[in-house]
Amino acid sequence: MTPPGPTASPAIRVALPQLCDIDDLDRDRAIALLDRADAVHAVALGRAPALSSLAGRTVVNLFFENSTRTRTSFSLAARRLGAEVVDFHAHTSSAGKGESLLDTWATLRAMGCDAFVVRHADDHAVAELARQTRLCERPHSPIINAGSGRHAHPTQALLDALTIRQRKPDLASLTVAIIGDIRHSRVARSNLKLLQLLGVGELRVAAPPALHAEDLPAGVHRFERIEPALAGADVVMMLRLQRERMGAAQVADGSEYFRDWGLTTERLALAAADAIVMHPGPINREVEIASDVADGPQSVILAQVGNGVAVRMAVLEAVLGA
Ligand code: NCD
Repeated sequence: MTPPGPTASPAIRVALPQLCDIDDLDRDRAIALLDRADAVHAVALGRAPALSSLAGRTVVNLFFENSTRTRTSFSLAARRLGAEVVDFHAHTSSAGKGESLLDTWATLRAMGCDAFVVRHADDHAVAELARQTRLCERPHSPIINAGSGRHAHPTQALLDALTIRQRKPDLASLTVAIIGDIRHSRVARSNLKLLQLLGVGELRVAAPPALHAEDLPAGVHRFERIEPALAGADVVMMLRLQRERMGAAQVADGSEYFRDWGLTTERLALAAADAIVMHPGPINREVEIASDVADGPQSVILAQVGNGVAVRMAVLEAVLGA
């Protein structure tokens, strides 16, 4: 489907105090964000002139973990709404001298920064920062979670839902299979919550036993082999082995993993004929996904990346009351 042009404007605009988790959304708000993201899609991709809804506002990227897609797309999203962007580099900042996250926030806030996009390795650091800032300030400066530990990555879930909805609007009829390192994945946790909220028909997760998670929502079907999880699926979402979050020797090496769990053309044939293949990136080719699948006709991986800018525009507008 071709998303609507830049002039389209959905009837409902959403106001959000923060976005730390999918729990900050209800179904109507989630849908309103997706509608707005569709409406600004051409602007998000640089195919229509930038908007000015955030002119005079400043957005800070506060990243304490590596990022390519999320960080760049938040920067582009803010700029394409007319905002200024500050990129905070944790490894060259006073965070390395022991300054707390709250003091770092207060320092940037004192320079007139309005919204804080935060990525952190700790599961609860972003939500805790949001709680602390609510206690100590007026007016409010919204916190947006750009990935916290294994816990939550709400804007990734929104961009994934948008990518699915653009291609398969009847969400209730869909079977979505999330496959790979579920245990360490904030992407899986946020996607399961959001896709349930949006009423997706069937949700499956598949992983080797050591990479399964115990904290998944009720109603999600669990598989310990890839083949039955793929059978008839409409959406196949592959996850990276997140070795940086693993203890010693939790999983086999890359080639063994690929043999048992890699998404190959042969395995993909088990899914619905028109299934789409997703991956949040970064991809490890020939570990969780074969190159010809990642680059093949069913892959929507680069569409996900573009949708990341659009969704983050919608979220920045919502938290900054534009
Ligand atoms: C994901 C993340 O950082 O959680 N990537 C992303 O944001 N696009 C997934 C991953 O790192 O594997």
